[in-house]
Amino acid sequence: MKNKLTVELPPKAGFTPLCVPEIRGNEWKYVKECLDTGWVSSVGQYVERFEQDVAHFVGARFGVATVNGTAALHVALRVAGVQADDEVLISTLTFIAPANAIRYTGAWPVFIDAEPQYWQMDPQKVADFLEKKCQWRDGALYNRTTARRVKAIIPVHILGHPVDLRPILEVARKYNLVVIEDATESLGAKYHGRMVGNLGDIACFSFNGNKIISTGGGGMIVTDNEEWARKAKYLTTQAKDDPLEYVHNEIGYNYRLTNLLAAMGCAQMEQLPEFIAAKRRIASSYSQALKSLPGITSMSEAPWAYSTFWLYTILVDREIFGMDSRALLRKLDQSKIQTRPLWEPMHRSKAFADCGAFDCPVADQLNRDALSLPCSVGLADDDLQAVIAILTSSKLHHD
Ligand SMILES: Cc1ncc(COP(=O)(O)O)c(C=O)c1O
Repeated sequence: MKNKLTVELPPKAGFTPLCVPEIRGNEWKYVKECLDTGWVSSVGQYVERFEQDVAHFVGARFGVATVNGTAALHVALRVAGVQADDEVLISTLTFIAPANAIRYTGAWPVFIDAEPQYWQMDPQKVADFLEKKCQWRDGALYNRTTARRVKAIIPVHILGHPVDLRPILEVARKYNLVVIEDATESLGAKYHGRMVGNLGDIACFSFNGNKIISTGGGGMIVTDNEEWARKAKYLTTQAKDDPLEYVHNEIGYNYRLTNLLAAMGCAQMEQLPEFIAAKRRIASSYSQALKSLPGITSMSEAPWAYSTFWLYTILVDREIFGMDSRALLRKLDQSKIQTRPLWEPMHRSKAFADCGAFDCPVADQLNRDALSLPCSVGLADDDLQAVIAILTSSKLHHD
């Protein structure tokens, strides 16, 4: 079609897709009920039930449903007191949304490298930055270079695996920094036996099309802090101080999830344990098959972690494997298998060219070498074996 603007890369027809939703429970029934009763908008029993279901699953006291994970992050930053010109530490190896959300508040991201083993935010580099590059003055921490106040840390639990959070929480407590978990990719993952999303001060989830559960689009803030939860609900519903008389004392947002989508979320939550088990099974099959393949490093799970393996990812060593990750992507594409590299690290992104740039060599290397493989919850075993067969076939290298 002429003038078509391409914003997404949908799976091509006949391809094994990277990661698509699994809809096989009560989704139709609950959504139909909304349609039959007319409760389709942002008021209705499913929105509240979905909030309770997610908060309960994570072990948090409160949940506040939002239109998407980016909106959840934006509001979480606001209720946590992040203000214009503050700085917020964030993993550089992430999808762009949390960095964007920081800029929506007028604050500035400071990008921190990944650690090489599990590819998550490096706690040592967080501590180094805070201890060596910042200064404690008048009850707050300031970046020596920019003179801006450092207010918060956003550890992003990427790909279904938790960040090593204890050392980050320790240093955050020392300097009175808020910890906002971006748990959008890791619903159901555990850190030392505790659910991610219930480790920091406030956390955010996403339910977009490729997440472990999907509402089409949707998000959630969870927290134990009642005042923050109340403020989040207020801000996400246009900051109404008197809903009848349309009195607003603050600028709010139209960020509340609809009942229609929350209905789908409730049905998806019922299946979450099965979905996690399926993801772990897929990961285990890949890891088993690829473990002795020279030049391929599989995604691993820390001894202190329970990963959902939300997006199964490998590293490709060009020298040993005989081709780099992008060449492998093209090869698999020829066999109708959709794969994807990880994100351009944020410290390289033009969108953040005016933010302080630090060396992030590990994130750069992961960006160069990583490739995510098909891992939908409903991935058929034949399709999984077909991906493995191509990866392990010597033909791959000689075509
Ligand atoms: C790490 C991360 N943060 C935030 C988001 C934003 O979520 P959403 O797409 O629901 O706005 C996503 C997913 O898209 C993500 O992967």
